[in-house]
Amino acid sequence: MNNPHPHPPFNAATAQVAGRLAGRRILVTGAASGIGRSVAELFVRAGACVVALDRRRPVDLAGPASQWLAVEADITDTSAVANAVQQAVERFGGLDGVVNAAGIANTDWADAVSHEDWQRVIDVNLTGTFNVCSAAIAQLRAAGAGTIVNVSSGQGLQPFKQRSAYAASKAGVISFSKSIAMEWAPQVRVNTICPGAIDTPMVRGGYSAEELHARVGPRYALERIGEPQEIAMAALYLSSAESSFVTGIVLAVDGGRSYH
Ligand SMILES: NC(=O)c1ccc[n+]([C@@H]2O[C@H](COP(=O)([O-])OP(=O)(O)OC[C@H]3O[C@@H](n4cnc5c(N)ncnc54)[C@H](O)[C@@H]3O)[C@@H](O)[C@H]2O)c1
Repeated sequence: MNNPHPHPPFNAATAQVAGRLAGRRILVTGAASGIGRSVAELFVRAGACVVALDRRRPVDLAGPASQWLAVEADITDTSAVANAVQQAVERFGGLDGVVNAAGIANTDWADAVSHEDWQRVIDVNLTGTFNVCSAAIAQLRAAGAGTIVNVSSGQGLQPFKQRSAYAASKAGVISFSKSIAMEWAPQVRVNTICPGAIDTPMVRGGYSAEELHARVGPRYALERIGEPQEIAMAALYLSSAESSFVTGIVLAVDGGRSYH
């Protein structure tokens, strides 16, 4: 029998997080699946009011219905995004934070990727992040103590082959986030998380379960892939007053993939 991993995935579902986001109203994109869904559910448990945005309406988000609102919107559609912010204002009276977790993957060689695929990946991952941040900034400033957490990727730090559009979009998210961290300080703190491979439908679309655990996991210093809750815990820290002196950082949550 294999020994248990010394650092197994943290179980956010049973963690004591009550009150850590009390009084905060946070828009989470990509909330129907994977990392965004895990963030939305954790934030509700931590006391936040959550606007759970996705191009597919999130279903069965755990937590009291009084604390969350599902909004169907495509982040590439600026009027749909503006409408989502307006719904947040009407339901919760404003916004204190944003977590941008909506995104799409792409695997193509750089000399084979179509213009349409390239444009779509940039539109969703980079321009979509810009759209949500710019639609929310007036509310974040008005609320005071605003936070933005943008989900980039380890690919934005150290790309693999066959990921050029995705890696470029995610490197763009890092640079955009650092820019607005300077421009929108001191009212708003802006931080970026770069996940390594996390077991979500996005990653399952590119790898079989066997490949993920047998081939991808062992490349990481911690010798396993991650779980969405491990990203959600980082987003919780960066969206709460606990990270009051932290802005403009790029936090790799990746089992050690990107430091060497
Ligand atoms: N899973 C990983 O290994 C991994 C690693 C690094 C970074 N990321 C990033 O984390 C984020 C979340 O990824 P995930 O693995 O949870 O993926 P996922 O596919 O499980 O979830 C992504 C969600 O984003 C939504 N979405 C996509 N395009 C949208 C649009 N235009 N408008 C609104 N919603 C849209 C999808 O409907 C989906 O619910 C993405 O930005 C991804 O690039 C994931």
